[in-house]
Amino acid sequence: MIRHTAFALAPWSIRESRLDLDVLAQTESVFALSNGHLGLRGNLEEGEPYGEPGTYLDGFYEARPLPYAEAGYGYPESGETVVNVTNGKVIRLLVDDEPFDVRYGTLHQHERVLDLRAGTLTRRAHWSSPTGGQVRITSTRLVSFTHRAVAAIRYEVEAVDQPRNVVVQSELVANETQQYMSGDPRESARLESPLVLEENVTVEDGMAIMVHHTRASELRVAAAMSHEIDGPDGTRIETRGAGDVSRVTVATRLSPGERLRLVKYFSYGWSAQRSRPAMHDQVVAALAAARLVGWDGLCSDQRRFLDRFWEGADVEVEGDAEVQQAVRFALFHLLQSAARLEDRPIPAKGLTGSGYDGHAFWDTEIFVLPVLTYTYPRAAADALEWRLSTIARARENARQLGLSGAAFPWRTISGAECSGYWPAGTAAFHVNADIAHAATQYVDATGDTEFERDTGLPLLIGTARLWCALGHHDAEGRYRIDGVTGPDEYSAVADNNIYTNLMAQQNLREAAELSVRHPERARRLGVTDEEIARWRDGADAMSIPYDERLQVHQQSEGFTQHGMWNFAATGLSRYPLLLHFPYFDLYRRQVVKQADLVLAMHLRGDAFTAGQKARNFAYYEALTVRDSSLSACTQAVMAAEVGQLELAYRYLGEAALTDLADLEHNTMDGLHMASLAGAWIALVAGFGGMRAGNGRLCLSPRLPESLTRLCFRLCYRGSLVRINVTSGETTYWLLEGPPITLTHHGERLELQGKPVTRPNPPAPQPGLTVTQPPGREPAPRRPAEGP
Ligand code: BGC
Repeated sequence: MIRHTAFALAPWSIRESRLDLDVLAQTESVFALSNGHLGLRGNLEEGEPYGEPGTYLDGFYEARPLPYAEAGYGYPESGETVVNVTNGKVIRLLVDDEPFDVRYGTLHQHERVLDLRAGTLTRRAHWSSPTGGQVRITSTRLVSFTHRAVAAIRYEVEAVDQPRNVVVQSELVANETQQYMSGDPRESARLESPLVLEENVTVEDGMAIMVHHTRASELRVAAAMSHEIDGPDGTRIETRGAGDVSRVTVATRLSPGERLRLVKYFSYGWSAQRSRPAMHDQVVAALAAARLVGWDGLCSDQRRFLDRFWEGADVEVEGDAEVQQAVRFALFHLLQSAARLEDRPIPAKGLTGSGYDGHAFWDTEIFVLPVLTYTYPRAAADALEWRLSTIARARENARQLGLSGAAFPWRTISGAECSGYWPAGTAAFHVNADIAHAATQYVDATGDTEFERDTGLPLLIGTARLWCALGHHDAEGRYRIDGVTGPDEYSAVADNNIYTNLMAQQNLREAAELSVRHPERARRLGVTDEEIARWRDGADAMSIPYDERLQVHQQSEGFTQHGMWNFAATGLSRYPLLLHFPYFDLYRRQVVKQADLVLAMHLRGDAFTAGQKARNFAYYEALTVRDSSLSACTQAVMAAEVGQLELAYRYLGEAALTDLADLEHNTMDGLHMASLAGAWIALVAGFGGMRAGNGRLCLSPRLPESLTRLCFRLCYRGSLVRINVTSGETTYWLLEGPPITLTHHGERLELQGKPVTRPNPPAPQPGLTVTQPPGREPAPRRPAEGP
């Protein structure tokens, strides 16, 4: 838990007012900067101490063998792990004879501020060396949204009391050592020196270039740096490079109050195909472009880019300053994970850490993309276009499994399946329906018909074919999908998982619709009328397991007959259960890791009555332990829908604070993108009651007592709408674009120039008592409330 509560509450920034080395690794994730292409962890410039050094390029990985104690047919043989590439953040400092290292001497002041509007991380330190040499250091860094390949740091040292000899060494360093490994399977594999040097050259003073490649995946990465240096007369600059290090050394003597300033620009590129000279030139060119705009230009471009983003995406929350800060932090990091993807994946941790080996999961399509679709749609399209770019591999994967269509991987960087545990990997076929769902949602929200035809259609057809290969009609004519794993990873290889079946049903129906809408293109993809009819038949006959005795749906067939998990005998220290109990035992009991059926009720609300939703919610709440951060937001949404507004509010807090309060104890491995998205989902789909699909945008806003106002924006069909909710009423405002139609608690509203206000009807009375497994209630909010 980030307990030092050093993150001051502020609406537009995350400010840490003192350095606590015990949580250094966590804060490196929180202070990570990225643009979706290049990501820098918030490591200290001087390189040490560190939790985990991290510089990542989206899509850049090393392949490694996936060993099995007992091999089996169709197991992936090779895995992929994100590589910590050449570190350009390093700026070391020597004051007289002493290296600046926060572990030595006296740190009088240390502050770091992540500015969500400026898109910068600023650090201010006031330090005395062990021999008393005092300096002030100020650095500001950014990863540019407008120059995809570029990051920059402005670094300034000031002598405080007496004249000081100061030496600054600005470096590019490859193959840094990685430190901790706890054995938690959610961490990444450790790669020893994954980069092989091809070139380390100095072009001119202050400028160096390094090119490396990976041994197994054979990807090439180039990094370059150049500097603008401003120091007193006599300042000397020297540039040298050898092995995996290039170094620009700046030596000067500063009188008290005098400063040495440098701006370091560094750029990256990677490719599977381009040659060493081509990569070299590419990064040099990126630097030239950055220097042309200069530091001030990069900063003003960054702010302009973010101003535009916030105009379309901001969420205002009154009554809870912590959630206000957290939701903006979340939106900022989501943008950072996706702004400049350009056909690459969004990993579960974005580019903030190496957790889960840097893999992308269904987290992207079901949690992250809904937020981007309605706030920054271009990025959602990019992420789906990346999926399409991997469809050949997905087809190959399906073929290898004896199926047809496209079987997208459970976890991957390049598109290849990287899960070595098939019951929760290969068998989690729902990822295919999730991709189809995200594509359908994107088209519905944007009306982008070109995307629908060129990207949506092939994705939907490939995945619909997979469902046809996986499912069959039983003797009674019901369509069954047996032996698959749904979102709840504490059940596996189950029959008729309700989430999978409902999402597959939607996938099949949408594939049929789209094929009819684009007959020419569908024909070219081999779709026939018979195939469309098969899709529709499967969808119409889809098996939806229901327990008549308990009057609740079953997460999968037979689930409600399983033995109960002994929650009373499970001490709090034994969570997450996956680290303390064998899967075989979890699989045969009624215990739910994360929302599964409850997620189905959110995404396929049309398939349940209000009474069923309330009963199902109560039943599954008592079984759900939330050992995944992908659950709280969904529980918030459904709690709000069934009238449990205060419970929804508590789940909102948990989703929103997962990383700022390190609730999962693994923020050090990187931020949880799905949970960050969950903050928005809990507010907008939960308290805003937003549901959309089939050309309808529906809102049913209702606030819990603690919130006095919620205001959010939605990009919808080329328009921008602002929705302002207070406890009594909601006002809808068309900020940009053509008129749109939406519903407020079922009433149709036409939005044109003028704002429209409607009262919020009271919430339905929750008829059922809802409880969670002992000790697994939503996380307490403030440290004061904690144990
Ligand atoms: C969850 C998965 C999720 C993965 C990556 C797991 O703990 O159970 O649903 O995709 O983490 O976030």
